[in-house]
Amino acid sequence: MALQWWQRAVFYQIYPRSFADSNGDGIGDLDGVTARLDYLTALGIDAIWLNPVNPSPLDDWGYDVSDYCGIHPDLGDLAAFDRLLAEAHRRGIRVIVDLVPNHTSNQHPWFVESRASRTNPKRDWYIWVPGSLDRPPNNWQSTFGGSAWKYDPTTASWYLHIFLEQQPDLNFRNPAVVEAMHNVIRFWLDRGADGFRIDVIAGLIKDAELRDNPIRAATDPDIPWNAKGTQDPLYSHDRPEVHDIIRGFRRVSDRYEQRILVGETWPREHERLADFLRPDELQLAFNFRFLLARYDARRFRAAIEQTEKSFGPTAWPTWTLSNHDFSRHISRYSRDGDGEARARVAAVMLLTLRGTPFIYYGEEIGMRDAAIPAASKRDPVGRDGCRSPMQWSDARNGGFSTSANTWLPCGDFKAVNVARQLNDPHSMLALYRRLIELRKSTPALVEGSYRAFDNAPEDCLVFHRDTATQHIVVALNFTAEPREIDLPAGTILLSTVPERAGDSESPLMLAPNEGVIVML
Ligand code: GLC
Repeated sequence: MALQWWQRAVFYQIYPRSFADSNGDGIGDLDGVTARLDYLTALGIDAIWLNPVNPSPLDDWGYDVSDYCGIHPDLGDLAAFDRLLAEAHRRGIRVIVDLVPNHTSNQHPWFVESRASRTNPKRDWYIWVPGSLDRPPNNWQSTFGGSAWKYDPTTASWYLHIFLEQQPDLNFRNPAVVEAMHNVIRFWLDRGADGFRIDVIAGLIKDAELRDNPIRAATDPDIPWNAKGTQDPLYSHDRPEVHDIIRGFRRVSDRYEQRILVGETWPREHERLADFLRPDELQLAFNFRFLLARYDARRFRAAIEQTEKSFGPTAWPTWTLSNHDFSRHISRYSRDGDGEARARVAAVMLLTLRGTPFIYYGEEIGMRDAAIPAASKRDPVGRDGCRSPMQWSDARNGGFSTSANTWLPCGDFKAVNVARQLNDPHSMLALYRRLIELRKSTPALVEGSYRAFDNAPEDCLVFHRDTATQHIVVALNFTAEPREIDLPAGTILLSTVPERAGDSESPLMLAPNEGVIVML
Protein backbone atom coordinates (compact mmCIF):
# COMPACT_ATOMS: atom_id res chain seq x y z
CA MET A 1 0.00 0.00 0.00
CA ALA A 2 1.25 3.48 -0.81
CA LEU A 3 2.50 5.30 2.23
CA GLN A 4 0.55 8.25 3.63
CA TRP A 5 2.08 11.72 4.00
CA TRP A 6 2.55 11.27 7.73
CA GLN A 7 4.54 8.08 7.14
CA ARG A 8 6.93 9.88 4.80
CA ALA A 9 7.14 13.11 6.78
CA VAL A 10 9.89 14.39 9.04
CA PHE A 11 8.19 16.23 11.92
CA TYR A 12 9.62 19.11 13.91
CA GLN A 13 8.32 20.01 17.37
CA ILE A 14 8.16 23.73 18.15
CA TYR A 15 7.76 25.09 21.66
CA PRO A 16 6.18 28.38 20.54
CA ARG A 17 7.30 30.46 23.54
CA SER A 18 10.91 29.63 22.76
CA PHE A 19 11.26 29.60 18.99
CA ALA A 20 11.31 33.20 17.77
CA ASP A 21 10.02 36.45 19.29
CA SER A 22 8.60 38.75 16.60
CA ASN A 23 7.47 41.65 18.81
CA GLY A 24 10.35 42.05 21.24
CA ASP A 25 8.49 41.11 24.44
CA GLY A 26 10.91 38.32 25.31
CA ILE A 27 8.39 35.58 24.47
CA GLY A 28 8.34 33.58 21.25
CA ASP A 29 5.13 33.84 19.23
CA LEU A 30 3.29 32.57 16.17
CA ASP A 31 4.49 35.35 13.86
CA GLY A 32 8.01 34.43 14.97
CA VAL A 33 7.42 30.85 13.83
CA THR A 34 6.04 32.11 10.50
CA ALA A 35 9.14 34.23 9.98
CA ARG A 36 11.36 31.16 10.40
CA LEU A 37 9.53 28.77 8.09
CA ASP A 38 12.18 29.07 5.38
CA TYR A 39 14.72 27.72 7.84
CA LEU A 40 12.52 24.64 8.29
CA THR A 41 12.09 24.26 4.54
CA ALA A 42 15.86 24.31 4.07
CA LEU A 43 16.22 21.69 6.78
CA GLY A 44 13.74 19.46 4.94
CA ILE A 45 10.91 19.52 7.48
CA ASP A 46 7.48 18.37 6.26
CA ALA A 47 5.32 19.01 9.31
CA ILE A 48 5.44 20.87 12.59
CA TRP A 49 3.81 20.17 15.92
CA LEU A 50 3.13 23.24 18.02
CA ASN A 51 3.01 22.85 21.79
CA PRO A 52 -0.21 24.37 23.23
CA VAL A 53 -1.10 27.80 21.89
CA ASN A 54 -4.41 28.28 23.73
CA PRO A 55 -5.21 30.83 26.42
CA SER A 56 -4.01 29.53 29.75
CA PRO A 57 -3.01 30.82 33.18
CA LEU A 58 0.27 28.96 32.49
CA ASP A 59 0.39 26.90 35.65
CA ASP A 60 1.59 24.08 33.38
CA TRP A 61 2.73 26.33 30.52
CA GLY A 62 -0.28 25.89 28.29
CA TYR A 63 -1.22 22.35 29.30
CA ASP A 64 -3.80 24.04 31.53
CA VAL A 65 -6.19 25.36 28.91
CA SER A 66 -8.77 28.03 29.80
CA ASP A 67 -10.17 28.44 26.26
CA TYR A 68 -9.80 25.66 23.69
CA CYS A 69 -10.73 27.85 20.75
CA GLY A 70 -8.44 30.81 21.20
CA ILE A 71 -4.77 31.79 21.10
CA HIS A 72 -2.83 32.89 24.16
CA PRO A 73 -2.24 36.66 23.81
CA ASP A 74 1.50 36.18 24.45
CA LEU A 75 1.64 34.11 21.25
CA GLY A 76 -0.62 36.18 18.98
CA ASP A 77 -4.22 35.72 17.94
CA LEU A 78 -6.30 33.63 15.58
CA ALA A 79 -5.27 35.83 12.66
CA ALA A 80 -1.61 35.07 13.44
CA PHE A 81 -2.46 31.38 13.57
CA ASP A 82 -4.17 31.63 10.17
CA ARG A 83 -1.12 33.42 8.75
CA LEU A 84 1.18 30.71 10.07
CA LEU A 85 -1.01 28.01 8.62
CA ALA A 86 -1.25 29.70 5.22
CA GLU A 87 2.50 30.35 5.00
CA ALA A 88 3.34 26.82 6.13
CA HIS A 89 0.92 25.27 3.66
CA ARG A 90 2.31 27.46 0.87
CA ARG A 91 5.66 25.78 1.54
CA GLY A 92 4.18 22.31 1.76
CA ILE A 93 4.61 22.17 5.54
CA ARG A 94 1.70 20.74 7.56
CA VAL A 95 0.85 21.96 11.02
CA ILE A 96 -0.53 19.90 13.88
CA VAL A 97 -1.59 21.48 17.15
CA ASP A 98 -1.63 20.20 20.71
CA LEU A 99 -5.01 19.05 22.01
CA VAL A 100 -5.21 18.75 25.80
CA PRO A 101 -8.48 16.91 26.48
CA ASN A 102 -7.69 15.11 29.74
CA HIS A 103 -7.97 18.21 31.93
CA THR A 104 -8.67 21.92 31.76
CA SER A 105 -7.32 24.78 33.78
CA ASN A 106 -9.17 25.35 37.04
CA GLN A 107 -9.90 28.78 35.54
CA HIS A 108 -11.72 27.35 32.53
CA PRO A 109 -15.37 28.56 32.66
CA TRP A 110 -16.49 24.90 32.67
CA PHE A 111 -14.67 24.26 35.92
CA VAL A 112 -15.64 27.58 37.46
CA GLU A 113 -19.27 26.54 36.95
CA SER A 114 -18.67 22.95 37.95
CA ARG A 115 -17.20 23.84 41.31
CA ALA A 116 -19.93 26.40 42.13
CA SER A 117 -22.49 23.92 43.48
CA ARG A 118 -23.30 20.23 43.58
CA THR A 119 -26.28 20.86 41.35
CA ASN A 120 -24.60 22.98 38.71
CA PRO A 121 -25.33 21.67 35.17
CA LYS A 122 -21.55 21.36 34.61
CA ARG A 123 -21.01 19.50 37.88
CA ASP A 124 -20.62 16.15 36.17
CA TRP A 125 -18.14 17.50 33.61
CA TYR A 126 -15.38 16.83 36.16
CA ILE A 127 -14.76 14.02 38.62
CA TRP A 128 -16.17 15.01 42.00
CA VAL A 129 -16.55 12.89 45.12
CA PRO A 130 -18.31 14.30 48.20
CA GLY A 131 -16.43 13.60 51.42
CA SER A 132 -14.48 14.98 54.28
CA LEU A 133 -11.10 16.61 54.35
CA ASP A 134 -9.39 13.80 56.23
CA ARG A 135 -9.93 11.13 53.60
CA PRO A 136 -9.31 11.39 49.84
CA PRO A 137 -11.57 9.08 47.77
CA ASN A 138 -8.78 6.66 46.89
CA ASN A 139 -5.01 6.23 46.75
CA TRP A 140 -4.37 7.64 43.26
CA GLN A 141 -1.25 9.72 42.90
CA SER A 142 -0.69 12.79 40.79
CA THR A 143 1.97 12.38 38.09
CA PHE A 144 3.56 15.48 39.57
CA GLY A 145 3.58 14.06 43.12
CA GLY A 146 1.18 13.75 46.07
CA SER A 147 -2.48 12.77 46.06
CA ALA A 148 -4.42 13.19 42.83
CA TRP A 149 -7.37 14.60 44.82
CA LYS A 150 -7.98 18.16 45.95
CA TYR A 151 -10.58 19.00 48.57
CA ASP A 152 -12.84 21.91 47.63
CA PRO A 153 -14.57 23.36 50.70
CA THR A 154 -17.22 25.23 48.63
CA THR A 155 -19.13 22.00 48.14
CA ALA A 156 -17.30 19.76 50.64
CA SER A 157 -16.09 17.53 47.81
CA TRP A 158 -12.88 16.25 46.26
CA TYR A 159 -12.00 16.67 42.60
CA LEU A 160 -9.53 14.60 40.64
CA HIS A 161 -6.35 16.07 39.14
CA ILE A 162 -3.89 13.58 37.66
CA PHE A 163 -1.46 16.50 37.12
CA LEU A 164 -1.37 19.83 39.03
CA GLU A 165 -4.28 20.77 41.30
CA GLN A 166 -4.86 23.63 38.83
CA GLN A 167 -5.59 20.95 36.17
CA PRO A 168 -8.87 19.20 37.11
CA ASP A 169 -9.58 16.08 35.04
CA LEU A 170 -12.58 16.16 32.74
CA ASN A 171 -15.13 13.36 33.00
CA PHE A 172 -15.16 11.54 29.66
CA ARG A 173 -17.96 9.28 30.88
CA ASN A 174 -20.20 12.29 30.37
CA PRO A 175 -21.35 12.46 26.71
CA ALA A 176 -21.57 16.27 26.93
CA VAL A 177 -17.81 16.41 27.59
CA VAL A 178 -17.13 14.11 24.65
CA GLU A 179 -19.29 16.28 22.41
CA ALA A 180 -17.58 19.47 23.63
CA MET A 181 -14.19 17.99 22.74
CA HIS A 182 -15.44 16.91 19.33
CA ASN A 183 -16.39 20.53 18.75
CA VAL A 184 -12.88 21.64 19.68
CA ILE A 185 -11.47 19.16 17.16
CA ARG A 186 -13.83 20.49 14.48
CA PHE A 187 -12.89 24.07 15.30
CA TRP A 188 -9.19 23.56 14.50
CA LEU A 189 -9.74 21.24 11.55
CA ASP A 190 -12.20 23.73 10.04
CA ARG A 191 -9.46 26.35 10.35
CA GLY A 192 -7.14 24.12 8.37
CA ALA A 193 -4.97 22.47 11.02
CA ASP A 194 -3.59 19.15 9.76
CA GLY A 195 -4.30 17.29 12.95
CA PHE A 196 -3.43 16.99 16.60
CA ARG A 197 -0.87 15.75 19.01
CA ILE A 198 -3.17 14.60 21.78
CA ASP A 199 -1.99 15.01 25.34
CA VAL A 200 -2.25 12.14 27.86
CA ILE A 201 -4.59 10.31 25.54
CA ALA A 202 -4.41 6.92 27.23
CA GLY A 203 -5.63 8.47 30.48
CA LEU A 204 -8.90 10.04 29.35
CA ILE A 205 -11.13 7.51 31.09
CA LYS A 206 -10.85 6.44 34.70
CA ASP A 207 -12.29 3.43 36.47
CA ALA A 208 -16.04 3.89 36.99
CA GLU A 209 -15.74 2.74 40.61
CA LEU A 210 -12.53 4.71 41.29
CA ARG A 211 -10.87 1.63 42.76
CA ASP A 212 -7.50 1.94 44.50
CA ASN A 213 -4.47 1.38 42.30
CA PRO A 214 -2.39 -1.65 43.24
CA ILE A 215 1.15 -1.28 44.47
CA ARG A 216 3.66 -2.49 41.90
CA ALA A 217 6.40 -4.68 43.27
CA ALA A 218 9.05 -4.44 40.59
CA THR A 219 9.79 -1.02 39.15
CA ASP A 220 10.60 -0.45 35.51
CA PRO A 221 13.09 2.41 35.18
CA ASP A 222 11.80 3.10 31.66
CA ILE A 223 8.41 4.23 32.93
CA PRO A 224 8.72 7.58 34.71
CA TRP A 225 5.73 7.22 37.04
CA ASN A 226 7.07 3.89 38.03
CA ALA A 227 10.62 4.97 38.47
CA LYS A 228 9.37 7.60 40.91
CA GLY A 229 6.72 5.67 42.77
CA THR A 230 5.51 2.18 43.25
CA GLN A 231 1.93 2.57 42.15
CA ASP A 232 0.62 0.77 39.08
CA PRO A 233 -1.96 3.16 37.52
CA LEU A 234 -4.24 0.22 36.70
CA TYR A 235 -7.51 2.03 37.48
CA SER A 236 -6.54 5.62 36.69
CA HIS A 237 -4.88 5.18 33.31
CA ASP A 238 -5.12 3.15 30.08
CA ARG A 239 -8.60 1.76 30.77
CA PRO A 240 -10.20 -0.38 28.05
CA GLU A 241 -13.00 2.18 27.51
CA VAL A 242 -10.51 4.80 26.35
CA HIS A 243 -10.50 3.19 22.93
CA ASP A 244 -14.15 4.19 22.40
CA ILE A 245 -13.24 7.80 23.09
CA ILE A 246 -10.35 7.64 20.64
CA ARG A 247 -12.56 6.07 17.99
CA GLY A 248 -14.96 8.98 18.46
CA PHE A 249 -12.14 11.50 17.91
CA ARG A 250 -11.08 9.61 14.81
CA ARG A 251 -14.60 9.62 13.38
CA VAL A 252 -14.64 13.39 13.67
CA SER A 253 -11.21 13.85 12.12
CA ASP A 254 -11.95 11.40 9.30
CA ARG A 255 -14.69 13.75 8.10
CA TYR A 256 -11.78 15.89 6.88
CA GLU A 257 -9.13 14.84 4.39
CA GLN A 258 -5.57 13.89 5.25
CA ARG A 259 -5.74 14.83 8.94
CA ILE A 260 -3.96 12.91 11.66
CA LEU A 261 -4.13 12.11 15.34
CA VAL A 262 -0.83 11.55 17.13
CA GLY A 263 -1.11 10.27 20.68
CA GLU A 264 1.00 11.14 23.64
CA THR A 265 0.49 7.61 24.71
CA TRP A 266 1.96 6.06 27.81
CA PRO A 267 0.40 2.60 27.87
CA ARG A 268 0.79 0.77 31.14
CA GLU A 269 3.08 -1.64 29.32
CA HIS A 270 5.12 -0.63 26.29
CA GLU A 271 4.05 -3.79 24.52
CA ARG A 272 0.53 -2.41 24.29
CA LEU A 273 1.36 0.80 22.43
CA ALA A 274 0.23 -0.78 19.16
CA ASP A 275 -3.27 -1.24 20.62
CA PHE A 276 -3.83 2.47 20.04
CA LEU A 277 -2.70 2.34 16.42
CA ARG A 278 -5.69 0.93 14.61
CA PRO A 279 -7.38 1.91 11.37
CA ASP A 280 -10.13 3.53 13.43
CA GLU A 281 -7.97 4.95 16.25
CA LEU A 282 -4.68 6.89 16.16
CA GLN A 283 -2.45 7.13 13.09
CA LEU A 284 0.66 7.66 15.19
CA ALA A 285 1.66 7.45 18.84
CA PHE A 286 4.84 8.55 20.52
CA ASN A 287 7.17 5.80 21.50
CA PHE A 288 8.92 7.12 24.54
CA ARG A 289 11.58 4.50 24.96
CA PHE A 290 14.25 6.60 23.25
CA LEU A 291 13.47 9.59 25.47
CA LEU A 292 14.36 7.57 28.48
CA ALA A 293 16.97 5.12 27.22
CA ARG A 294 20.55 5.49 28.34
CA TYR A 295 23.12 5.75 25.54
CA ASP A 296 23.55 2.03 25.18
CA ALA A 297 23.12 0.03 21.97
CA ARG A 298 21.39 -2.77 23.89
CA ARG A 299 18.71 -0.44 25.22
CA PHE A 300 17.98 1.01 21.80
CA ARG A 301 18.00 -2.41 20.14
CA ALA A 302 15.54 -3.74 22.71
CA ALA A 303 13.24 -0.75 22.14
CA ILE A 304 13.37 -1.08 18.35
CA GLU A 305 12.88 -4.81 18.33
CA GLN A 306 10.05 -4.77 20.78
CA THR A 307 8.39 -2.08 18.67
CA GLU A 308 8.92 -3.92 15.39
CA LYS A 309 7.59 -7.12 16.93
CA SER A 310 4.51 -5.72 18.65
CA PHE A 311 3.51 -3.30 15.87
CA GLY A 312 3.00 -5.87 13.14
CA PRO A 313 2.29 -4.82 9.56
CA THR A 314 -0.43 -2.22 10.20
CA ALA A 315 0.87 0.01 13.01
CA TRP A 316 3.48 2.59 12.01
CA PRO A 317 6.21 3.56 14.50
CA THR A 318 7.45 7.01 15.50
CA TRP A 319 10.86 7.84 16.93
CA THR A 320 11.89 10.77 19.08
CA LEU A 321 14.99 11.52 21.11
CA SER A 322 13.90 14.66 22.97
CA ASN A 323 10.83 16.70 23.82
CA HIS A 324 9.65 19.44 26.16
CA ASP A 325 9.28 17.13 29.16
CA PHE A 326 12.75 15.62 29.50
CA SER A 327 16.36 16.66 29.50
CA ARG A 328 17.62 17.02 25.91
CA HIS A 329 19.38 13.89 24.66
CA ILE A 330 22.69 15.64 24.00
CA SER A 331 22.72 16.75 27.64
CA ARG A 332 21.77 13.30 28.85
CA TYR A 333 24.48 11.67 26.71
CA SER A 334 27.10 14.16 27.89
CA ARG A 335 26.83 12.98 31.47
CA ASP A 336 29.07 9.96 30.85
CA GLY A 337 30.64 10.51 27.45
CA ASP A 338 31.11 12.67 24.38
CA GLY A 339 27.59 14.10 24.02
CA GLU A 340 28.21 15.72 20.66
CA ALA A 341 29.59 12.58 19.00
CA ARG A 342 26.84 10.46 20.54
CA ALA A 343 24.13 12.87 19.42
CA ARG A 344 25.45 12.55 15.85
CA VAL A 345 25.14 8.76 16.02
CA ALA A 346 21.65 9.08 17.52
CA ALA A 347 20.63 11.43 14.68
CA VAL A 348 21.55 8.76 12.13
CA MET A 349 19.46 6.24 14.06
CA LEU A 350 16.47 8.60 14.37
CA LEU A 351 16.40 9.35 10.66
CA THR A 352 17.02 5.86 9.30
CA LEU A 353 14.70 3.68 11.36
CA ARG A 354 11.41 2.49 9.90
CA GLY A 355 8.87 5.01 11.12
CA THR A 356 8.20 8.71 11.44
CA PRO A 357 10.91 10.80 13.12
CA PHE A 358 10.09 13.77 15.37
CA ILE A 359 12.88 16.32 15.85
CA TYR A 360 12.69 18.63 18.89
CA TYR A 361 13.56 22.25 18.00
CA GLY A 362 17.25 22.93 18.46
CA GLU A 363 18.39 19.31 18.49
CA GLU A 364 19.49 19.82 14.87
CA ILE A 365 22.16 22.23 16.11
CA GLY A 366 23.04 20.22 19.20
CA MET A 367 21.35 22.59 21.64
CA ARG A 368 21.81 21.56 25.25
CA ASP A 369 19.61 22.11 28.30
CA ALA A 370 20.13 25.68 29.50
CA ALA A 371 21.26 26.28 33.06
CA ILE A 372 18.32 27.83 34.91
CA PRO A 373 19.19 29.87 38.00
CA ALA A 374 16.69 29.43 40.86
CA ALA A 375 15.27 32.94 40.35
CA SER A 376 14.43 32.21 36.68
CA LYS A 377 12.60 28.92 37.20
CA ARG A 378 9.18 28.80 35.54
CA ASP A 379 8.03 25.20 35.48
CA PRO A 380 6.73 23.81 38.79
CA VAL A 381 8.30 20.43 38.06
CA GLY A 382 11.69 21.51 36.73
CA ARG A 383 11.48 21.09 32.95
CA ASP A 384 12.72 24.58 32.01
CA GLY A 385 16.20 23.50 30.90
CA CYS A 386 14.98 21.80 27.72
CA ARG A 387 12.58 24.67 26.88
CA SER A 388 15.10 27.52 26.54
CA PRO A 389 15.07 29.92 23.57
CA MET A 390 16.15 28.69 20.14
CA GLN A 391 19.74 29.70 19.38
CA TRP A 392 19.74 31.43 16.01
CA SER A 393 23.00 33.38 16.17
CA ASP A 394 25.57 34.81 18.57
CA ALA A 395 23.67 38.14 18.74
CA ARG A 396 21.86 39.27 21.88
CA ASN A 397 19.65 36.47 23.25
CA GLY A 398 20.99 34.23 20.52
CA GLY A 399 18.93 36.16 17.97
CA PHE A 400 15.74 34.87 19.62
CA SER A 401 14.50 38.22 20.90
CA THR A 402 15.55 41.87 21.11
CA SER A 403 14.07 42.19 24.61
CA ALA A 404 16.23 42.90 27.64
CA ASN A 405 14.62 39.88 29.30
CA THR A 406 13.65 36.60 27.72
CA TRP A 407 10.93 34.52 29.40
CA LEU A 408 13.51 31.80 30.14
CA PRO A 409 17.28 32.31 30.19
CA CYS A 410 19.12 31.51 26.96
CA GLY A 411 21.62 28.67 26.70
CA ASP A 412 25.17 28.63 25.30
CA PHE A 413 24.30 30.46 22.07
CA LYS A 414 27.79 31.91 21.61
CA ALA A 415 29.08 28.39 20.99
CA VAL A 416 26.00 26.70 19.53
CA ASN A 417 23.82 28.55 17.04
CA VAL A 418 22.25 28.24 13.60
CA ALA A 419 24.22 31.03 11.91
CA ARG A 420 27.52 29.48 12.84
CA GLN A 421 26.54 26.04 11.60
CA LEU A 422 24.79 27.01 8.37
CA ASN A 423 27.91 27.07 6.26
CA ASP A 424 29.97 24.53 8.17
CA PRO A 425 29.76 21.18 6.34
CA HIS A 426 30.85 19.36 9.51
CA SER A 427 28.22 20.88 11.80
CA MET A 428 25.34 19.07 13.47
CA LEU A 429 22.97 21.12 11.33
CA ALA A 430 24.72 19.97 8.15
CA LEU A 431 24.44 16.38 9.35
CA TYR A 432 20.68 16.70 9.98
CA ARG A 433 20.18 18.31 6.58
CA ARG A 434 22.12 15.61 4.79
CA LEU A 435 20.32 12.87 6.69
CA ILE A 436 16.91 14.27 5.82
CA GLU A 437 17.94 14.75 2.20
CA LEU A 438 19.26 11.21 2.00
CA ARG A 439 16.10 9.86 3.59
CA LYS A 440 14.03 11.58 0.92
CA SER A 441 16.16 10.40 -1.97
CA THR A 442 16.57 6.81 -0.76
CA PRO A 443 13.28 4.85 -0.89
CA ALA A 444 14.65 2.02 1.29
CA LEU A 445 15.06 4.45 4.19
CA VAL A 446 11.37 5.34 4.12
CA GLU A 447 9.55 2.33 2.67
CA GLY A 448 12.09 -0.39 3.26
CA SER A 449 11.68 -3.25 5.69
CA TYR A 450 13.64 -3.29 8.93
CA ARG A 451 15.80 -6.28 9.86
CA ALA A 452 18.40 -6.48 12.57
CA PHE A 453 21.90 -7.44 11.39
CA ASP A 454 22.62 -10.53 13.46
CA ASN A 455 26.35 -10.54 13.48
CA ALA A 456 27.07 -7.17 15.11
CA PRO A 457 28.97 -6.62 18.35
CA GLU A 458 26.58 -6.19 21.30
CA ASP A 459 27.56 -2.56 21.82
CA CYS A 460 26.81 -1.56 18.22
CA LEU A 461 23.46 -1.21 16.54
CA VAL A 462 23.40 -2.48 12.97
CA PHE A 463 20.31 -2.96 10.83
CA HIS A 464 19.14 -3.46 7.25
CA ARG A 465 16.62 -1.33 5.40
CA ASP A 466 15.61 -3.09 2.21
CA THR A 467 13.27 -2.74 -0.71
CA ALA A 468 13.22 -5.13 -3.66
CA THR A 469 15.89 -3.05 -5.39
CA GLN A 470 17.78 -1.25 -2.60
CA HIS A 471 19.84 -2.74 0.20
CA ILE A 472 20.96 -0.36 2.89
CA VAL A 473 22.82 -1.13 6.10
CA VAL A 474 22.99 1.35 8.95
CA ALA A 475 25.89 0.68 11.32
CA LEU A 476 26.16 2.62 14.56
CA ASN A 477 29.06 2.34 16.97
CA PHE A 478 27.84 3.27 20.45
CA THR A 479 31.28 2.92 22.00
CA ALA A 480 34.28 5.23 22.31
CA GLU A 481 36.48 2.58 20.67
CA PRO A 482 36.79 1.33 17.09
CA ARG A 483 34.60 -1.62 16.12
CA GLU A 484 34.64 -4.07 13.25
CA ILE A 485 31.42 -5.08 11.47
CA ASP A 486 31.40 -8.17 9.30
CA LEU A 487 29.78 -6.61 6.24
CA PRO A 488 30.49 -6.99 2.53
CA ALA A 489 31.96 -3.96 0.79
CA GLY A 490 29.55 -1.25 -0.36
CA THR A 491 29.20 2.46 -0.91
CA ILE A 492 29.19 4.82 2.03
CA LEU A 493 26.24 7.18 1.59
CA LEU A 494 26.89 9.06 4.81
CA SER A 495 29.12 8.97 7.86
CA THR A 496 29.10 11.02 11.05
CA VAL A 497 32.86 11.26 10.57
CA PRO A 498 33.08 14.15 8.12
CA GLU A 499 35.92 13.08 5.81
CA ARG A 500 34.63 9.61 5.20
CA ALA A 501 32.97 8.84 1.86
CA GLY A 502 33.31 6.55 -1.12
CA ASP A 503 33.55 2.76 -1.06
CA SER A 504 33.61 0.80 2.19
CA GLU A 505 35.97 -2.09 2.78
CA SER A 506 34.97 -5.50 4.05
CA PRO A 507 34.84 -5.82 7.02
CA LEU A 508 33.55 -2.35 7.82
CA MET A 509 35.69 -0.55 10.37
CA LEU A 510 33.80 1.94 12.50
CA ALA A 511 35.64 4.76 14.26
CA PRO A 512 34.71 5.48 17.91
CA ASN A 513 31.14 6.86 18.05
CA GLU A 514 30.75 6.62 14.31
CA GLY A 515 27.53 6.02 12.43
CA VAL A 516 27.49 5.12 8.73
CA ILE A 517 24.89 4.41 6.10
CA VAL A 518 26.10 1.92 3.51
CA MET A 519 24.47 0.90 0.25
CA LEU A 520 25.26 -2.71 -0.57
C1 GLC B 1 1.92 15.88 28.95
C2 GLC B 1 2.73 17.06 28.49
C3 GLC B 1 3.33 17.74 29.69
C4 GLC B 1 2.21 18.18 30.61
C5 GLC B 1 1.30 17.01 30.96
C6 GLC B 1 0.02 17.47 31.59
O1 GLC B 1 2.70 14.89 29.52
O2 GLC B 1 3.69 16.66 27.56
O3 GLC B 1 4.14 18.82 29.33
O4 GLC B 1 2.76 18.71 31.78
O5 GLC B 1 0.91 16.29 29.82
O6 GLC B 1 -0.78 18.10 30.63
